Formats: sequence, structure tokens, C-alpha cells
Amino acid sequence: MATAVSDREAALRAAIERDPADAAAHGELAAHYYAVGKLDESVSEYSLACRLAPDVPEGRYNLAATLNACGDTSAALDIVEQAERDFPDSAIIHYGKACVLQRIGRLDESLASFTIALELDPNHADTWYGVGIVLLRQGDPLRASSFFERALDVAPNHTGARYMRDALSGQARTRPDKSFVQELFDGYAAYYDEHMLEQLGYRAPQILCNTLANELRGAPELRVLDLGCGTGLVGSRLRPRAGQLVGVDLARGMLDRARTLDCYDRLECCDVLDFLNEQSHATQDLVVAADLFIYFAELDEVFAAIRHVLTPCGLFAFTVEEHTSEGWSVGPSGRFRHSRAYLETLRDRLGYTPRSFERTVIRHDGGEPCQGFIVAWSAGPETDLSL
Ligand SMILES: C[S@@+](CC[C@H](N)C(=O)[O-])C[C@H]1O[C@@H](n2cnc3c(N)ncnc32)[C@H](O)[C@@H]1O
Repeated sequence: MATAVSDREAALRAAIERDPADAAAHGELAAHYYAVGKLDESVSEYSLACRLAPDVPEGRYNLAATLNACGDTSAALDIVEQAERDFPDSAIIHYGKACVLQRIGRLDESLASFTIALELDPNHADTWYGVGIVLLRQGDPLRASSFFERALDVAPNHTGARYMRDALSGQARTRPDKSFVQELFDGYAAYYDEHMLEQLGYRAPQILCNTLANELRGAPELRVLDLGCGTGLVGSRLRPRAGQLVGVDLARGMLDRARTLDCYDRLECCDVLDFLNEQSHATQDLVVAADLFIYFAELDEVFAAIRHVLTPCGLFAFTVEEHTSEGWSVGPSGRFRHSRAYLETLRDRLGYTPRSFERTVIRHDGGEPCQGFIVAWSAGPETDLSL
């Protein structure tokens, strides 16, 4: 795989050496860099492509989209605003502008740009989907749903639109497609920390690690698995307690951010269940999962797999969003919520022992506090990790 990737890069570089003014080759190299998560290199190549072929709107869009992904929203906005003056009839430019505006929370303006893009090109499923997401953020799930339907009319396999449509109608009975999670978080990675911590008041990593600080007092250096580790908000806090710290996540963009913290011994880009199923029995002292199970409906399989990898006195600490009646549900945001009774039934069936339970606000959603549970269980009857 690594060879194939570098072969591709080498071939593109060779093409550019033969003809340094080949804008298309620079564009392809930029797309390749984007695909492998080298966003700075991608920006440089897209910039070159735009200088060489200034009359191609797609080039400007790609440059703006990559800057947006890097979190440089002000440069991205400059590019799309200039491109809008140069190509007023280009749907992709209005779409790109809408995405940047959405990202910086200028939702009404984003909707206006999406609307122009749809008038110019009603066959672009991502534009219908984008409107749906903005409407959701504006608290209008009913209208959002009709836009997800329109996206599916245009592209029946659009994973995001399908997932959100099902979630909004209460029909999401399983987990979202892996590609949906990957796309969502690859796009979110660059601004995840700032958005979650500063704008949404996300506190799960902090509260979870405070709980663990109490539970782990006196324990030796631990073998720790951080499931759905994201950008490393939990891992960075747990590093001092860990002899070995492994992070697992589906989204490479998130893992790239986590890697910059230099706190994980290993980062694995894969589905947590696939990963757990490949681990040997009783090899972990601590498994943590902050805000991961919002992407799981049923938790029995993953909880059983976690218990399998934990040592008999190992600890499992996680957060969920609260569902106030029976079982679980899926909210208008597409995130799953679980009830306390559902968790406790599973806990007892799988043979975990309760250690701590806290109900608290873990983040905000549309300005409203979002209640969740911070839970710690021991894998067996033994509760002392220092044993
Ligand atoms: C809301 S983020 C939480 C990240 C981190 N734990 C934190 O507290 O900041 C959820 C993370 O779970 C990852 N994720 C969701 N489903 C996953 C799965 N089935 N396997 C691996 N990672 C998954 C996402 O890619 C994302 O990075």
C-alpha cells in the first residue's frame, strides 16, 4: 500500500518535471496529497495549479476546500469570494463558498450560497446535503429531512444523506457506514478541538479523566486503549498514567491531529470493533471511549469485545449521551443516545462490575445543554488495578 502511494506520487512528480507548467498534473498531485492527508503540500500544489490555469473554477474550488479543511477559513473565503467575482455562474464556486460560510457559522449566508449553487446545478447531491446540514444546525429537522431526500434522489448511495434521513425519521437501526464517519471526521478534524471545546463546551474528556484519576490512584503504569481517540483529547490527559497508549479511530484526519501531540505509542486507523476482535484476551488494563458510542445503536457486541481484551481487574470508562426512556434512540443530530437502564442491563449480562456513574452536561447542542453519562466499570469482580 505504502509503495503504491509513493509510486503514484513519483509518477505525478515525474510528469511535472517533464512539464512544470502542466496545471492538470499539479492538480492531480494536489488531490493525491489531499487523499493521503498531506494538506499543506496539497495547498501548495493547488495554488500552483491555480496560478498556471487561473480560468478553471474547479481549481479555485479545490484550493478553497483544502484551505477550509486545514482550518484556514479566512484564506479559503478570500479565494471563493474572488472566484465568485471571476465566475459568477459557477455552481461549484457558490457551493464552495457555502461550505466555508457554514464552517465559520455564517449559516444564513451559507444557505444563500447553497441556494444559488442549486439553481445553477440541481444535480449536485452534496449541495442538497449541505442545505440539510445547515437547516439542522438552525434547528429545522423537518425541512432538513426533505433536503436529504433530494440529495438521495440525485445520488441514491449518498451515505451522509441516507444516514441523516434515516436518523431524522427514527429509522437508523444500526451504526452509520464507516465511510460516513470517515468523511464526517476527516472534514471536521482541522477545527474539531476548537469547535467542540470552545463553541460546544464539550467536557467529556476532562470529566472522564477526572473520574479515572480517582479510580486509578495507586495503579501501576497501564496498558491503555483509547477507542475513537479522535484528535487525542483523552489520550493527552491519560499519557502520564500509561505504560502503553494505543489510539484507534476510523478517521485519518483525526489521527493526523492526534499524532501531532506525540502522546500515543501507536495509532491505528480502523474500526474499533475490527480492532478489538483482533486483540488477544486480557491484554489491556484500561479501555476508554469518550463520545464514541454516539455512533453505535446497540452496544452489546462492542462491550463484549472490550471485556474480552480487558484483564480481570481492568477498567472500562466511557461516555454516552442520555436517552431518557427505554433502550436507545437516535437524535435529530444523527447521534445515538442510550438510557441508563440499557447500559446497566448490558453491564450485568456481560459481567462487568460498576465502579462509578455520573450524569452531567457533556456538551451543548444548538445552544441547549446535552446530558450524558460518565461511566466506569471493572471487567470482573476484582476492582483493584494495582493487584
Ligand atoms: C466525537 S469524536 C470523539 C473523539 C475523542 N474521543 C474525543 O473525546 O474528543 C468520535 C470519534 O470516534 C470515531 N469513530 C466513530 N465510529 C468509529 C468506529 N466505528 N471505529 C473507530 N472510530 C470511530 C470518529 O472518527 C471520531 O474521531
